[in-house]
Amino acid sequence: MKQAGDFKRTLVTTALPYANGPVHIGHLAGVYVPADIYVRYLRLKKEDVLLIGGSDEHGVPITLKAKNEGVTPQDVVDKFHGIIKDSFENFGISFDVYSRTTSKTHYETASEFFKTLYDKGEFIEKESEQYYDEEARQFLADRYITGTCPHCKSEGAYGDQCESCGTSLNATDLIDPRSVVSGSKPVIKTTKHWYLPLDKHEPFLKEWILDGHKEWKSNVYGQCKSWIDLGLQPRAVSRDLDWGVPVPVEGADGKVLYVWFDAPIGYISATKELTPEWEKYWKSEDSRMLHFIGKDNIVFHCIVFPSMLKAEGSYILPENVPANEFLNLEGDKISTSRNWAVWLHEYLVDFKDKQDVLRYTLTANAPETKDNDFTWKDFQARNNNELVAVLGNFVNRALVLTQKYYDGEVPALGELNEVDQQTLAEIANLKAEVEKSLDNYRFREALKFAMDLARLGNKYLADEEPWKVVKTDPERVKTVMNICLQITANLTVVLEPFLPFSMEKLRGFVNLEKLEWSELGRTDLLQAGHKTNKPDLLFEKIEDKTIEAQVQKLLDTKKANELAEATAKPAKENCSFDDFMKMDIRTGTIVEAEKVAKTKKLMKLLVDTGIDQRTVVSGIAEYYSPEEIIGKQVSILVNLEPRKLRGIESQGMILMAEDADGTLKFVSPEAEVKNGSEVK
Ligand code: 2FM
Ligand code: ZN
Repeated sequence: MKQAGDFKRTLVTTALPYANGPVHIGHLAGVYVPADIYVRYLRLKKEDVLLIGGSDEHGVPITLKAKNEGVTPQDVVDKFHGIIKDSFENFGISFDVYSRTTSKTHYETASEFFKTLYDKGEFIEKESEQYYDEEARQFLADRYITGTCPHCKSEGAYGDQCESCGTSLNATDLIDPRSVVSGSKPVIKTTKHWYLPLDKHEPFLKEWILDGHKEWKSNVYGQCKSWIDLGLQPRAVSRDLDWGVPVPVEGADGKVLYVWFDAPIGYISATKELTPEWEKYWKSEDSRMLHFIGKDNIVFHCIVFPSMLKAEGSYILPENVPANEFLNLEGDKISTSRNWAVWLHEYLVDFKDKQDVLRYTLTANAPETKDNDFTWKDFQARNNNELVAVLGNFVNRALVLTQKYYDGEVPALGELNEVDQQTLAEIANLKAEVEKSLDNYRFREALKFAMDLARLGNKYLADEEPWKVVKTDPERVKTVMNICLQITANLTVVLEPFLPFSMEKLRGFVNLEKLEWSELGRTDLLQAGHKTNKPDLLFEKIEDKTIEAQVQKLLDTKKANELAEATAKPAKENCSFDDFMKMDIRTGTIVEAEKVAKTKKLMKLLVDTGIDQRTVVSGIAEYYSPEEIIGKQVSILVNLEPRKLRGIESQGMILMAEDADGTLKFVSPEAEVKNGSEVK
């Protein structure tokens, strides 16, 4: 296996966020802050490195948003690309290029890439049956179809996934499918698409990842292994849509590249836009590529994109993919549609000039090995107890005392006692520790080690008490203050990747240029006589009321969501009396109940319908236990066509009322009646 030192240059890519909404703390914590820390670190080491980013501007959610708002997809992406780009810039994410997938270069690059694979015979062409909207005269991508989830019965499931129970679906599985475009019932029609035969690349992927990259983070390696173990299938790389990069072959009218085919090629297009030397980064064996992404992108970056690159033949493959898990917010999953997020552009207004506080909190609590939770209380505590009380307090005391005793001039080091020597040794040891963590993408650990230097400084000051000693032994104080100032100078280096805004400020106080990483650990960074400036506060306390206001903002969101959910859905289209009469609803009693193994929601019931005893599978397991419903009288639709759910034939449907929060309650007769009574 190659080591980092074997490469001449590094290409760092960051997942391209969808330009259908602004970016939030989850984006920052999962991808952009760690990538930025890493790249700043390499730059300090004077390595050749590029940080590549951009907006992902294709895909169905963008076209749907445009449709809902009565604007064009281009309008949507123009708006959010601007907001996202500004947010990243304001947080100091130091992209060498931040591009977008609607750029001309990207269209050309993605088309060419497809064409090369096509010409090499790397795709298979397949006809398949897909839903088609006859009113709108278009094929319907998965997200353009909604219907009832066959598993949990929630309405509003999409053609690719039910967001209620999380099951991934095929559009044709949906009960009562509807086109999102026209609301009409779609029909099945045949269409042709191009597929990347991942199965063909399986032997290579096995060898390259499972044997060759055992050093990848266990969450990444584990996900790759389970995909590969399950057996890879060909994946369609085109869609019937009118928003995207047109498929560049004859007879492909109305077809575009699937967003997940073109998006990673966006990394290549962006590099091309940045430098005419782009091929050096993408095509030479002495270049190293790293993909910073969130866990939901692992399969695309470890399996699909590498297969594309391999099939093309002239590109390098990623050396590592340090994917993070998810960040939750106050105990709930971050959600754009439910507005459950801390939006970066709003944070910048509410916490002006406090970008580093968020960078710090998100790194100290980064979801590196498991999902983590962001809470405003923790944010406040990290600021007040760590940035203010440890880091800010130490550098402030060091610099203020230097002003007071020496008019800002660094005093000369005198004779060293044992404590001094030990302190200097600890400064010297720091570099190797932090490097080891950073080189292994353990950013929270690296930050902890870096902050240990400020802790060391605080302890040294507290133990040496220069403010007391100055009265009895002023020569000794010179040594103490010199050491404190060397610690401060080292902090400007070691914390630069993490807290770039604050370290720029601190360099101003110390009157120091940006130092290289190689200087870290030196205890003579400041010469005697060097003049430091009057310091300002590096960080300030965040008051309870500021935090309470943010918590209140989230509570308001929660309330608004509950209210929106509580508003009853409008009535469905009228149905005829005859249609209604077709339904045979009876009263029945549950005689047996058991949870269906390996499902969260399903319960297998035996119901005495008065006509017979029959099995019904019902999505109620989250709301009732088997014991509490045995003997319960319910209403049951007895002439529903039998359907198999998880291999069990379900003969009928129990009627349930769904409350605003999604919980289900039985629709039962108000007093007991004979089983088999008709419900009319
Ligand atoms: O998950 C997402 O937000 C995607 N837009 C990431 C794309 S990453 C890359 F392939 F461009
Ligand atoms: Zn479902």
